[in-house]
Parts: sequence; structure tokens; C-alpha cells
Amino acid sequence: MKYHIITYGCQMNTADAEEMAQPLAGRGFVSTEHLWDADIVLMNTCTVRDQAEHRADSNIGRLRKWKDADPHRILIIAGCAASRWGDSIRQKYPFIDLVSPATQIEQFPEAVAQVLKERWNWEAETRASFEEGKERRREEEISSSLPPYFTSSPFGSETTAYVTIMRGCNYSCSYCIVPQVRGREVYRPMPQILEEIRQKTTRGHKDVMLLGQTVNSYHDRDHGHPLDFADLLQEVSAIESVEEVRFMSPHPRYMKERVIDAMKYSAKVARHVHLPAQSGSSRVLDRMQRLYTREDYLVVIKNLREAIPNILITTDIIVGFPGENDADFEQTLSLLNAVQFNGLFAFKYSPRPGTASASLENDIPSDVKEDRLQKVLALNTAIKKAEHMAAH
Ligand code: 5AD
Ligand code: SF4
Repeated sequence: MKYHIITYGCQMNTADAEEMAQPLAGRGFVSTEHLWDADIVLMNTCTVRDQAEHRADSNIGRLRKWKDADPHRILIIAGCAASRWGDSIRQKYPFIDLVSPATQIEQFPEAVAQVLKERWNWEAETRASFEEGKERRREEEISSSLPPYFTSSPFGSETTAYVTIMRGCNYSCSYCIVPQVRGREVYRPMPQILEEIRQKTTRGHKDVMLLGQTVNSYHDRDHGHPLDFADLLQEVSAIESVEEVRFMSPHPRYMKERVIDAMKYSAKVARHVHLPAQSGSSRVLDRMQRLYTREDYLVVIKNLREAIPNILITTDIIVGFPGENDADFEQTLSLLNAVQFNGLFAFKYSPRPGTASASLENDIPSDVKEDRLQKVLALNTAIKKAEHMAAH
């Protein structure tokens, strides 16, 4: 039996897909890259921008053919768009077998067990074959004795272990749908995280990517003394089998001295930080409810560069937020010039239902958004070119 994973969106989603594949891998299912070979399709959706959600929606529509070809097949729709859609997506596409929202990831193994039982009487069959001690295996299933990570090619780099350290988000950036679809912050206990890292890095992964929506706000208070993200970085670095530690995505407000010091003093922490700025205008940042100003952001950059001179810094930028005027946009371009980012992701503002900014007028025409996006990308290219020339 085979499963095929389709995952959209951020690395957190990729990590979630990997976690959701465990109950399947544990039953001897193997991952396939080919949709038409699959008995189960698990689609992990994203809703951060309208386009991402739309893509998932139309691709579910396209799966109808796959499903119609063999009604025994199982289609699972999970993730952030699934949180937003709820059961309405099943009304639209009745051939979906299970909708599993991002907030329900802990309940996923039970939910999937239920579907397998209903559809294939899977539980009874496997139990019986275990009892007889002669589990039937198809030839390709033998390869499932490899650790699931190796059979799960959709999960990014084979050398990097993705490790979720927190879920959800307590912030309320006015453009962002994530708090709605992923819920409040939940932190995993540090010993559990360290154990997962030990296991994964002795099984072949060398690098670790710590994941969380505001990853550096991490803390674990269930110990004699409270532990924070700086402690975690140190503990992870101290694991011998770990070669490199990265994290995604930090919030500028938590990029404090302790965290910067932990990065500085551990050679294993990558000399790269992805620090979303979103805008270079304090007025827009305020309307975005980012809880920092342009100046605050620049101080964090200065502190990072002073502590770690060769650090690479990348960012996310949103253009065309409601009310972003030409002067605001110039401030964003000037931030790019001031920081000289080593790379960036830029997005056109997309109003998301239920967010605070969705009630503001989406007043920047789409051609202006497009023009601003192109300007940001062109400036970034020019900055990187200059950097490249300076290095040679
Ligand atoms: N519109 C455009 N971009 C968005 N992002 C988050 N929400 C929106 C939105 N409504 C961007 C931010 C974030 C990245 C993951 O997606 O830049 O850092
Ligand atoms: Fe998309 Fe955000 Fe969900 Fe990641 S957390 S999949 S970016 S909506």
C-alpha cells in the first residue's frame, strides 16, 4: 500500500506532513512520488495568501479523476486551509474522505485509524496477521523497513531534520490568518524536543531546523527554572550528532541579547537568520500590529552584525498593505538599502477573511502592488549583484 503527499506552504507544513505520515508508515505503507500509484493521498494545504488556498482548492478538484478511478482510494485534506474550510470543503468535493485541520494534528493518528478501519477494515486485518506472526508484505513494502524519513522524499532535504518546537501563534499581526487557523501557542517540553533531535540525528540527519511560528519566543516553564530559546539553542548544539542548527521564523521582538549570544557562541548555529521585516515604514508596521518600529528592527540587525560579522540575513516583505502610500513604500526600499539583505521573499498583500486588516479597504490597486513588488525584487537583485562583485 502506498501514500502520496502533496504539501503547500511553509516548512512547518512540511514538518506536519512528515508527522502525519507516521501513522501510515507505521502500518507498513510506503511513500510514492507517483500519484497514480497511491492508495492514499494526503494533501497538506496552506491559506496564508488567497493564491495558496486557491491552488489547493483547484488541485483537490483535479484529484476527482484519481479518486474515481478506484473508489477504495482515500483522500485526506489537512492543514491550514482545511482549518478555515472545515467541513464545507467536503460539501464542495464529496469524494474527500477526511478533513483534518492544522489545529488537530495531535488527533490525526486516531482520525486516520478510523478512516482506515471504516474503509479497509485495516485494523482487524493487521491485528490478525500479527497474531499469526506472518505479516503479508508486498515486495515494495519491504523498503518500508527503512526509517520513514528516508522513504519520505517530499520532506525537503534528506540531511535536515525538521523539528517543530512550538505550534500556533499568540500575535495578532493584522494581515495574518495563521493565529486563526493554527490556534494559540503551545510549546513542546524541551526534553521531548532534545530526544527527537537525538533520534533523528543518529539515524542519518545531520542538520536540524527548529520550527515555530515565532520560534524564538520558545520557553519551557515546567522545570526548576524557566528555559528559553537561547537555552534550547545551547542544548541542541551540545548534542554530538548534530552538525548544524537553523531555526525558522524568529520574530524581531525576541531577537534579544541572550539569543544572539547563544548564536554567537555556538559554532553549530548557522550564520544565517531569516528575520521577517514586512515593511520599512513604522506607520505601516504599526497598522500591521507588528509591535516594533523600523528603528527597533534596525537595532536588531546592528546587534546581530556586531555579534556575528559574517551573518547572512534574509527577510519577508509585504507590499500594498492597506493605506501604504508612496512615502511608506520608499521607506521599505530604503530599509532594503540600509540592511542589504542577502535575500528576501516579497508578497503582494492579500486580504484574508477574519483578519483585522480585512476590514480595512484593500485600497492599493493590483497594478500598484505589482509595480511595488517588481521594485522590491529589482532592488534585491541589484543589492545581491553588488555584494557578489564586492566579494570577487
Ligand atoms: N498577504 C501577503 N503576505 C502575507 N504573509 C502573511 N500573510 C500575508 C498576507 N495576508 C507573508 C508574510 C509572512 C510570510 C510567511 O507570508 O510576509 O512572513
Ligand atoms: Fe501557510 Fe501559514 Fe499555515 Fe504555513 S502556517 S501553511 S504559511 S497558513
